[in-house]
Amino acid sequence: MKLSGKVAVVTGGSRGIGAAIARKLATEGAHAAIFCRSNGAAAESTVRAIREAGGTASLVLVDVADEVAVRSAMRDVASTFGRIDVLVNNAGIFESAPLGQISRQSFQDQFSTNAWSVLATTQAALDHFPSTGGAIVNVSSSLAVRPEPEAVAYSASKAAVDSLTLGCAIELGARSIRVNAVAPAITRTDMTADIPTQQLQDEVRLTPLGRLAEPDDIADVVAFLCSNDARWITGRSILVDGGRV
Ligand SMILES: NC(=O)c1ccc[n+]([C@@H]2O[C@H](COP(=O)([O-])OP(=O)(O)OC[C@H]3O[C@@H](n4cnc5c(N)ncnc54)[C@H](OP(=O)(O)O)[C@@H]3O)[C@@H](O)[C@H]2O)c1
Repeated sequence: MKLSGKVAVVTGGSRGIGAAIARKLATEGAHAAIFCRSNGAAAESTVRAIREAGGTASLVLVDVADEVAVRSAMRDVASTFGRIDVLVNNAGIFESAPLGQISRQSFQDQFSTNAWSVLATTQAALDHFPSTGGAIVNVSSSLAVRPEPEAVAYSASKAAVDSLTLGCAIELGARSIRVNAVAPAITRTDMTADIPTQQLQDEVRLTPLGRLAEPDDIADVVAFLCSNDARWITGRSILVDGGRV
């Protein structure tokens, strides 16, 4: 097991990609502290699945964009489990709208949940990393480097995640805290459940590996980046997209 005894916070770990990440990190021996906003039932079932598989997990209901609540949640995890070794910033929202119809509110909501939260959780976790260092993995998107129509604000918020990843990696290298990102293309979760079938078929056709991603495809790369196998990688945003971009 590559993360034996580690304490890992996974934001948005109740469902979708975050749940797969929490399950994978727990399989590798980490305690998964799942942060999610509201969906208690989905989160409970992820926690139960981890425990039934022999792992350990806990649940915190917290809005990742609320820095005061996030500080308190990180303090609770650190005081219960001793420290924080791994932080996975996965929580995110997607709002689609064509140019001309993007509201300030929608722009702010996406930047707040997708980008500001990365800084809020990272700053809140810093005091709790051991002196030997740790790993942070942010979940970006392939749209950060290849924006699509009707996703301009979301794409820009994920480009901000890539920049935050690099900036934090540079500043935290001296503390042996590595900071990387994964950038998935369309992955089968609640977030993409409403995409029309024709668009999904086009996506498969344009993907060299010839299918859509499953959450586990992303989680395995996140676990690698959290592990000592990735000890010489920091500041990178890695496309995990079946070759789509
Ligand atoms: N699916 C894709 O195709 C795709 C592609 C590229 C990147 N991504 C990124 O991957 C990440 C996960 O996406 P997904 O598809 O798994 O999404 P999802 O199925 O919609 O799940 C989103 C998760 O984020 C949590 N969350 C949202 N806002 C939050 C907030 N303010 N505070 C705390 N938790 C919050 C949700 O918690 P609740 O359950 O409490 O609502 C849920 O656990 C996101 O950052 C997304 O942008 C997804």
